[in-house]
Amino acid sequence: MKTSIVRPTQYRSGEITNQSRRGFSSYAKALIVSVFSGLMLTVASVSVQADPELPQYSGKARLGTQTCGGSTCHGAAKPWANSAVLQNEFVTWSTDDPHSGAYDALSSDRGKRIAKNLGIEDARQEEACLDCHTDNVPKELRSKNFDVADGVGCESCHGGAVEWLGLHVSGFGQREDYLNAGIYPTEDPKARAKLCLSCHLSDPRKSITHRIMGAGHPRLAFELDTFTANQPAHYRIDADYKQRKQQSSGVKVWAVGQAMAAQITVEALMDKNRNSAGIFPELFYFDCYACHHSMEEPRWQKRESVNIGPGVPRLNDSNLVMLRVLANAVDESMSARLLEQTRALHESSSKGQEATLRALADLSTTVDALVETFASTEFDVTAMWKIYDSLVAEGLKGEFIDLITAEQATMAIGSVLAAIEMTGADADLNGYNEALLKAYAAIDNSKTYTPAKYTAALQSLAAARQ
Ligand code: HEC
Ligand code: HEC
Ligand code: HEC
Ligand code: HEC
Repeated sequence: MKTSIVRPTQYRSGEITNQSRRGFSSYAKALIVSVFSGLMLTVASVSVQADPELPQYSGKARLGTQTCGGSTCHGAAKPWANSAVLQNEFVTWSTDDPHSGAYDALSSDRGKRIAKNLGIEDARQEEACLDCHTDNVPKELRSKNFDVADGVGCESCHGGAVEWLGLHVSGFGQREDYLNAGIYPTEDPKARAKLCLSCHLSDPRKSITHRIMGAGHPRLAFELDTFTANQPAHYRIDADYKQRKQQSSGVKVWAVGQAMAAQITVEALMDKNRNSAGIFPELFYFDCYACHHSMEEPRWQKRESVNIGPGVPRLNDSNLVMLRVLANAVDESMSARLLEQTRALHESSSKGQEATLRALADLSTTVDALVETFASTEFDVTAMWKIYDSLVAEGLKGEFIDLITAEQATMAIGSVLAAIEMTGADADLNGYNEALLKAYAAIDNSKTYTPAKYTAALQSLAAARQ
């Protein structure tokens, strides 16, 4: 369901365009219906397996996107009136969803340039690129209808259909039966975070490095709830959906996404295989703009949570900063511990590898616990407003001066406002859009970004609350 809160419609490192979603009044009607049916039906939803294997590595054979996209299956031109699901998922995916063009991107001008700079003849033949730009399963799992050129298709996210298609077509299966037959639980926040982050951040089995960035790959900026809202929706969360599947607020999706992104980053930094090449650690996990900015105007400023001086490269701690704000709403001592451990990690960078690994191990325990905490927390409207207020307050204290953190904070604020609107508790949040747009404008371009502009946007976000 769309809300009237603005979200960037496209998110490319340094290039963000915004568009206001459809107006509030048409939204409010839909909301009333769904809130009531939600109350009646949530008990029936099915909880899912704790830690399912990613579709790419689950060993289930692929039938191919075309198989899902038949005109009597998910390839209808328009949504069906009386079907549980929309039935036009294929059309939405193939015409509006960038995932259907992910393979073609490898032979675009940019794709070719990246390949050339890396000494790769054709990126479409390169495992390192295919792992994220298509459904790169072993050859023996590809049926004759499977086409690698389909890019990130249905089975990349929903799992190889070989075992669940029969059940599916028969119309007999319950949700549990599907999950047992290998369908991936995309509705579960943890499972979804694991899936999306495996391509939008990293996965130990895939290769994404500063070397690939240096060759011209766009910087990966990801926030689970915002990107969920931005992926053109090929599903509808209605009464029927709620009966079949668990549902989570956008704040929970954001929270779990942040905790798991922090977890992936911490694990990557502890992984010797990904950090032993040459004199530098893997710079992919550092704050890009700590190094990449003009020297004409010095921009270093002190931040409470970064107790290292100027001239030291900083890890990208944007997810950790968001986590701290979130933890504060659930458990203040956790938040304090996170601050202490983040500071220890930053400090360790000038104390050698052993100190760094120790700091990472401590942080890892806290972050793992937070993943579980957020996955089992329901945030009510009071908690959501508390998070909004802490986000703005931390920002005004100067915690978000780094562009990558400001970017995460802006998506977070958008996510929290949209989630509040979804609850129906506060009638009109349109007044926040102007301030939110100001925040998006401030982070729109890395060349013109200044902490002062972002602070002004935060002041407007604080004022909108009055
Ligand atoms: C860890 C997963 C991952 C790997 C590995 C990866 N990419 Fe990407 N790539 C992405 C994601 C995610 C995006 C979209 C970023 C965004 O817009 O947020 C992207 C975007 C791109 C784009 C821009 C697409 C557009 O529409 O503008 C090109 C070109 C590209 N990648 C080429 C490559 C090449 C060539 C390789 C191999 C050297 C590669 N990628 C490896 C995940 C990956
Ligand atoms: C990038 C990942 C991704 C791709 C690619 C993708 N989906 Fe989905 N799909 C999702 C997510 C996320 C949801 C929403 C969560 C859920 O209901 O499981 C979803 C939901 C659905 C639903 C459930 C609707 C409901 O009411 O239960 C159907 C049906 C569906 N997708 C079909 C498809 C088909 C067909 C394709 C290919 C044409 C496709 N999807 C491609 C991620 C994806
Ligand atoms: C198999 C790898 C893979 C998975 C899994 C995946 N993505 Fe993507 N995603 C990509 C690539 C590659 C692109 C860039 C495609 C292009 O522009 O050519 C992309 C693009 C996007 C975009 C458009 C970004 C922009 O710049 O506007 C959104 C939104 C998005 N993905 C959301 C999601 C969500 C939400 C999930 C999880 C449900 C997900 N993705 C899972 C690889 C993946
Ligand atoms: C510790 C400092 C440091 C960090 C952090 C860092 N880089 Fe770099 N980057 C470098 C150096 C050094 C070079 C090589 C110098 C050159 O080619 O001009 C480079 C080169 C590049 C280039 C090629 C520049 C060109 O002129 O073509 C790109 C693009 C790039 N980095 C992107 C990134 C991204 C994206 C990130 C964050 C994920 C990042 N860098 C993080 C130091 C850093």
